[in-house]
Amino acid sequence: MTDKPAAKPARPFFSSGPCAKAPTFSPEKLSLESLGRSHRAKIGKQRLQYCIDLMREVLGLPETHRIGIVPGSDTGAFEMAMWTMLGARGVTALAWESFGEGWVTDAVKQLKLEPNVMRADYGQLPDLDKVDWSDDVLFTWNGTTSGVRVPDAEWIPADREGLSFADATSAVFAYDIDWSKIDVATFSWQKVLGGEGGHGVLILGPRAVERLESYTPSWPLPKVFRLVSKGKLAEGVFKGETINTPSMLAVEDAIFALEWAKEIGGLEGLKARSDANAAALDKIVQDRSWLSHLAADEATRSKTSVCLSVEGADADFIKQFAGLLEKEGAAYDIAGYRDAPPGLRIWCGATVNVEDIEALGPWLDWAWASLKAA
Ligand SMILES: Cc1ncc(COP(=O)(O)O)c(C=O)c1O
Repeated sequence: MTDKPAAKPARPFFSSGPCAKAPTFSPEKLSLESLGRSHRAKIGKQRLQYCIDLMREVLGLPETHRIGIVPGSDTGAFEMAMWTMLGARGVTALAWESFGEGWVTDAVKQLKLEPNVMRADYGQLPDLDKVDWSDDVLFTWNGTTSGVRVPDAEWIPADREGLSFADATSAVFAYDIDWSKIDVATFSWQKVLGGEGGHGVLILGPRAVERLESYTPSWPLPKVFRLVSKGKLAEGVFKGETINTPSMLAVEDAIFALEWAKEIGGLEGLKARSDANAAALDKIVQDRSWLSHLAADEATRSKTSVCLSVEGADADFIKQFAGLLEKEGAAYDIAGYRDAPPGLRIWCGATVNVEDIEALGPWLDWAWASLKAA
C-alpha cells in the first residue's frame, strides 16, 4: 500500500444530495420556538413567511415571481408543476441525464402526453437552439448525474409561446438565473443550501399563474398538487400557508442556511464559493492523466455536481475506490450516480470548503495507487 496522505479533509462531505451542511451549522443553533406548535399558529406562519422572504432575497427573485414551499422535495415541486400545467399545448422534454429522463417518463407513461424528446448522452447537451418554443419545455438547469448544465438562459426566447419549466435543484444559489425567462422553477433545500429533504420550493412566473387559472387538466389531481381553488391561484401557498403539514424543523434548518448565505454575501458569496471549489477540483483533474471531466464542454460544465471519469474504471472499481475513501473518513459519497457511466461525483456547492476539495487530491491519488497495486 502506498503511504496515506498526512491530512484529511476536515469535512469529508462531498455528497451531491443531501449535501454538506453550512460550515457553521450545528443543531443547537436552530431556532426551536416553532416546534411542537401548529404550523398555522402565528409563529409557524411567521417562520414560513420569513423562510420564503429569505429565499426571495438570496435568490434575487423579482416581485413578478411567486415562491412557495410545497411537499415532496424537488420531485414533488416539479411533478406538481407538470401535473397542474401540462396538456394545454405540445410538450418538449430535454434529457441529458437521469433526472431529466425521469420527467420524460412522467410525461410519457403517467400523463400519456406525447412529448418531443430531445436527448443527449451523458456529458453532452442537446442542441438548445433547436427547441420549439411553441411547446411547453421541460429541462434540468444543472444535470446532477452528468455534471452538465445549460450555459445561461439566452436560448430561451423572451417571446416564447410555451412555458419554460426548469428543474433547478442543483442550480439555484450557484448560477445567475435570468428569471424573466423562467415560468416555473423548482428546487429543494437539500442541495446548495445543505438543508434537509422533504420540502420542495416552487417558483411561478406570471405566465405560469395565467396557465393555472385558465386551464384545467383532464387527469385527476391529488390534494398535495392542488394549487388552484375556485379558478384562482391558492395565494396562501406563497405566503406560508402550506398545503399540508410541513416539517418546521426542516424549515428552521433552511432558515439557518439562508441566514448563513446572507452573512457570506448572499448569492454572490455562494457563487464565489462554488466557483472556487469547482476551480480547485478542476486543478486536481488537470494535474492527473487518469482523471477527466465527464462534461466535455467547459462552458456547460457544472460548478456544483462535478462528474469525473477515471481511466479504465468500471462500476466495481469505482465502488472500491469510493469505499476505500469512505472507510478512511477522507471522502463520503463520491461514487457517481447509479444510472450514470461509472465515475466519481464530487459536490462543489457553496457549503463545501475549498481547503477540503484541495485536501481531497492526495487522497484520490492514494486510492488510485492502492487499487492499482492490489
Ligand atoms: C436535477 C435533479 N432533479 C431532481 C432530483 C430529486 O430531488 P429530490 O430528492 O429533492 O426530490 C435531484 C436529486 O438529486 C436532482 O439532482
